Amino acid sequence: MKKLRVGIIGTGNISHSHIAGYRALSDKCEVVAACDIDEKKLNAYCDLYGISHRYTDYNEMMRAENLNCVSVCTWNSAHKGATIAALRGGANVLCEKPMALNAAEALEMQQAAEETGKLLQVGFVRRFGNDAACLKNFIDAGVFGDIYYAKATYLRRNGCPGGWFGDKERSGGGPLIDLGVHVIDLVRYLGGCPKAISAFGSTYDNLGPNRAVGGSAGWSVGAFEKFDVEDFTTALIRFDNGLTLLVEASFNLNIKKDVGNIELFGTKAGCRIDPEVEIYTQLAGRFVDVQPFGSTALSFEGLFENEIRGFVNAVLGNEPCRAPAEDGVELMRIIDAIYLSAKTGKSVEIS
Ligand SMILES: NC(=O)c1ccc[n+]([C@@H]2O[C@H](COP(=O)([O-])OP(=O)(O)OC[C@H]3O[C@@H](n4cnc5c(N)ncnc54)[C@H](O)[C@@H]3O)[C@@H](O)[C@H]2O)c1
Repeated sequence: MKKLRVGIIGTGNISHSHIAGYRALSDKCEVVAACDIDEKKLNAYCDLYGISHRYTDYNEMMRAENLNCVSVCTWNSAHKGATIAALRGGANVLCEKPMALNAAEALEMQQAAEETGKLLQVGFVRRFGNDAACLKNFIDAGVFGDIYYAKATYLRRNGCPGGWFGDKERSGGGPLIDLGVHVIDLVRYLGGCPKAISAFGSTYDNLGPNRAVGGSAGWSVGAFEKFDVEDFTTALIRFDNGLTLLVEASFNLNIKKDVGNIELFGTKAGCRIDPEVEIYTQLAGRFVDVQPFGSTALSFEGLFENEIRGFVNAVLGNEPCRAPAEDGVELMRIIDAIYLSAKTGKSVEIS
């Protein structure tokens, strides 16, 4: 079998996790080219991984390289352009989350995938975690009954990643679009991908980026080019299957320690991922708390390896795509609705 030719667009932080995933599949694919507008970063990355085909323009890369697969790892405002160029250049695309700055952009990307007949997978990496796999088994076996309420919490006390993440033009927003997107999607995925029908949300920017106190630096120190995004969002999302989801996400919040957990509440059982999976149900007339055997906690690198394996297998036709473009579009509709609701103070319907 000829190996898939892979290109990377955006050679920053997360692109290292993508290339590690491809390199773990060296019998099926090879990263042959990379592109970044920052030539210094591009060269450091390519030197590190021995990539000789280097580009500062993704259109040029797509014309020259005959790529089968492209990972789009740029900041959010470049996702649409890079993804559409890669699809039209004949490649299947794995685009990082959030899919785009908003639903209109995401829809254009989905349409480009449909027109070209290429696969567009969205970087909903949490779908590939062992916690998600474990819960999906239980949910599909009917252990939870109907899941009607969920809570998704991703709170950092002092944790804006800095750089472009604070610049709305390039990020599209703050913790909602950066962190909330992961946990909203995970709940939606576990719940069988229901359609969102409305959202009510509030955003705040009370604390700002720089919260280093007495030398106890978090992430949010220094390297800000700009900070015009929210630092906290809370929202209630209703879905067409009766599920209501409460989501909270922060870069900065006066909370004791960072929290990242998911809770699902069903008619037969509930559960929490924090970080291990625990299930709350009844057995022989007693309440029981059940922990699956073995660890179900997340491993960051394992996640990306699973995600890239899923993408490559989907491209080869060996398994269905687990995070298709339509789910990225739906997530962007939800995010748009929450930001609009925060602006207007009213609940927003999602069609
Ligand atoms: N799945 C996850 O858990 C996860 C974690 C971190 C980041 N991300 C996502 O990955 C993406 C990148 O984040 P990061 O932390 O790696 O950022 P980063 O700033 O480290 O890297 C982004 C790179 O994109 C490059 N770039 C920007 N516009 C470009 C263009 N038009 N053409 C080529 N290169 C361009 C920049 O020069 C930069 O090197 C974001 O969308 C982010 O949300 C996902």
